[in-house]
Amino acid sequence: MEENRELQYTPMPKIGEKAPSFKAVTTQGDINFPEQYKGKWVILFSHPADFTPVCTSEFMTFASMEKEFKDYNCELVGLSVDGLYSHIAWLRTIKEKIEYKGMKDIEVTFPLIEDITMEVSNKYGMVQPGESNTKAVRAVFYIDPKGIIRTILYYPLSTGRNFDELLRILIALQTADEFDIATPADWRPGDDVIVPTAGSCGVAKERMEKKKDLKCYDWFFCTKKLTKSVIESKLKRSKKK
Ligand code: BEZ
Repeated sequence: MEENRELQYTPMPKIGEKAPSFKAVTTQGDINFPEQYKGKWVILFSHPADFTPVCTSEFMTFASMEKEFKDYNCELVGLSVDGLYSHIAWLRTIKEKIEYKGMKDIEVTFPLIEDITMEVSNKYGMVQPGESNTKAVRAVFYIDPKGIIRTILYYPLSTGRNFDELLRILIALQTADEFDIATPADWRPGDDVIVPTAGSCGVAKERMEKKKDLKCYDWFFCTKKLTKSVIESKLKRSKKK
C-alpha cells in the first residue's frame, strides 16, 4: 500500500442519492453524465490503471458481456485516472494482442473516461487513499433510469470483480422494481422471491391458503415462485413480446 498524502475529496455518494453529474472526455467522445443516460440503467465503474493485468482481464470480460447488460437496458461506462491516449493505446493492445480465457479480438466499444484531474473519481469516492492516492479502486455504481444510485460496490486493487455477480445484481434490482418483491441470499433468476411481510402468523396462514405458490416460514418471512421466463419476458429486450 502507498503512503498517504493529503488529498481533498468530497463525501462519498450513497445508495438512494442522485448520481453526481459531470461532463468528461471519453474514448467514445464527450459524455454528459448521468443526463444522457436518462431512461436507461448505467453501470459506472472505475479501474486502477491502464496496462495492468487485473484491469485487462476485467475489461475483456466487461466487453464480452456488454450485450448481456444491454439486453437489460444497461449501458457500461468505465473510468480511470489515466489520459485519453493511454486509454486508446491500451484498448488497441487488448484488441490486437491479448487472448485470454477464450476471449480474443475484443473491442471495447463502451466509453472509457479520462480523469487525469481526478475530478470525477473524487466525486464518486473512487480514490481511497488508504488503498492508493494515485489510482482509483475498483468501484461499481448502478444508476437507474431516473439517475438514482441503486447499488455501490468497492473492490481493492488486487481483486478482480465477479461478473456473474455484477449481472445478477442488475437483474435483482430490476426484478425487485418490476414485481415489488425482494431477493434472498444467493438468489438467481428462477429461485423463489421474498414477498412483503405478512404482518402476523394468522395473515401468513391465510395468505398461504389463498395462494398456493406462497410459502411462509414465519409471519415475517414469506416467499413465492417467480419463474425465469416471466422475469425475462418483462425485463429482457430479446425476450419481450
Ligand atoms: C491490475 O489491474 O493488475 C492492478 C492495478 C493496480 C494495482 C494492482 C493491480
